Amino acid sequence: MPTELHAWTALRQHHDAIRHTPMQQWFAEAEAARRVEDFSLEAAGLYLDFSKNRITFETFALLMKLAEEAGVTQRRDAMFAGEHINTTEDRAALHVALRALPDAPFKVDGQSVMPGIQDVLHRMRDFAGRVRTGAWTGFNGQTITDIVNIGIGGSDLGPRMVCRALAHLADPKGPRMHFVSNVDGTELAETLVRLDPARTLVIVCSKTFTTLETMANACSMREWFLQNGVAEDQLARHFVAVSTNREAVVKFGIDPANMFEFWDWIGGRFSLWSSVGLSIALAVGFDAFEDLLLGGRTMDDHFRTAPLARNMPVVLGMLGIWYRNFFGMPTSCMAPYSTSLELFPAFLQQLEMESNGKSVQINGDPVRSDTSPVVWGTAGTNGQHAYFQMIHQGSQIVPVDFVAPLVPPRSLPGHHAKLLANCFAQAEALMRGRTAEELRAAGVTDEARVPHMVFDGNRPSNMLLMEDLTPHVLGALIALYEHRTFVQGVVWNINSFDQWGVELGKILARPIEQELTGKGEATHDASTAALIARARGVLVRG
Ligand code: F6P
Repeated sequence: MPTELHAWTALRQHHDAIRHTPMQQWFAEAEAARRVEDFSLEAAGLYLDFSKNRITFETFALLMKLAEEAGVTQRRDAMFAGEHINTTEDRAALHVALRALPDAPFKVDGQSVMPGIQDVLHRMRDFAGRVRTGAWTGFNGQTITDIVNIGIGGSDLGPRMVCRALAHLADPKGPRMHFVSNVDGTELAETLVRLDPARTLVIVCSKTFTTLETMANACSMREWFLQNGVAEDQLARHFVAVSTNREAVVKFGIDPANMFEFWDWIGGRFSLWSSVGLSIALAVGFDAFEDLLLGGRTMDDHFRTAPLARNMPVVLGMLGIWYRNFFGMPTSCMAPYSTSLELFPAFLQQLEMESNGKSVQINGDPVRSDTSPVVWGTAGTNGQHAYFQMIHQGSQIVPVDFVAPLVPPRSLPGHHAKLLANCFAQAEALMRGRTAEELRAAGVTDEARVPHMVFDGNRPSNMLLMEDLTPHVLGALIALYEHRTFVQGVVWNINSFDQWGVELGKILARPIEQELTGKGEATHDASTAALIARARGVLVRG
């Protein structure tokens, strides 16, 4: 149990001693530059400045000690060795193999996984090339202009986020990407009005190929083709599948020759590196997809080999533990200062909250510490004009991760300096704050207003910078957060690779759907029964 580790107890005492110490004090000292030097890191094209955190050198040493005592190194090695670290599903969690060199020694249950991975990658390269060059056509010989990825959760958020982030690399004349995830028919209906069936290709992307939302959207999409001039035997030109479930793919009616496989030892939220990334290869080309894999691999190498105190995922992970478990901060904010990365917070929500939103340790005992914080955020500078007020002056402290490319993916004169200036200024303001004396010295004479204008500062943030938003550095960024999530799961002694918490709602939805459509009756609590009755009334009328 983490709370019984020596370092945990030491951190508790240390926290009592320093929790009120203002960071401003450390930045006022003569050695402030040394603080920045010691509390910054570079890896895989990313620069991390973590000096604006409420940590001393002693805090940092204790956090690294906690990582060591919690067994981060051993669990990391077990993950890379293909052990069944996903204990409740009795599976390996070997997404790192997907971005490894072809001759890497990754095995699951004694079998090398590399030939299978390479085979699928070759097929993805070939298929993406054919669609992008126009060699793969729709049923009547027309080139594909639009691709719809139908999937949800890990089969949507990762590829959707990457396609958005790398949109500047997409050929303007190449296929347009659309992502449909929600079972709310509005999403698919609004997408369909923009599409020509003869020029549309659908990727049905689902690890299990049983997910309600995805199957409902895939069925509606098939109907749309059939009603718009595409015959049943021509559908093969318009549907491909990405899945681990061959049987269900065939049953749905997709030609297995058009199926891109992946494996049960890849968790959905870690799957964008597999054939789930087919949409990425189609949108920006297979070479860019390969660069993304290479970036992920570079971060894997760093995570596997760097000492804990110089290890970016470990450092970020342990800072998160410091705020979550010792300061008791319930949320954390991801603020990418890049419109291209606007979907990164949503991706991170699934990665962190589905992985580490757990209350039971690996052995089934209850956890005795807090686990995943609520993860939230949007792209800057938009967030500044929405919720940053609360981050600066609210009663809860929110640690923020700022992420920014130094070179803009697309630029208009003057914009990027303004964007970066705001990013750095937010981090500075959060740390530094503003005192009543500073306000008076700056000429504020209305004393009644002064307390409202004071910023306490001492609010923590990390700054992650990259030069360009290339596929390589994006791959490294994603792998960084994957490993950071894993590190935290190790410290909390939970299984970061299962997601039993999503099951119950899915099970309960089935009979409710039957009732709403007048095909069944079930027993519910009074509140749910009243909601069903109200909705059924409207549905029947409609
Ligand atoms: O409901 C949660 C979940 O199981 C996620 O973990 C997963 O990424 C998503 O559903 C989609 O699952 P699938 O890829 O099997 O359709």
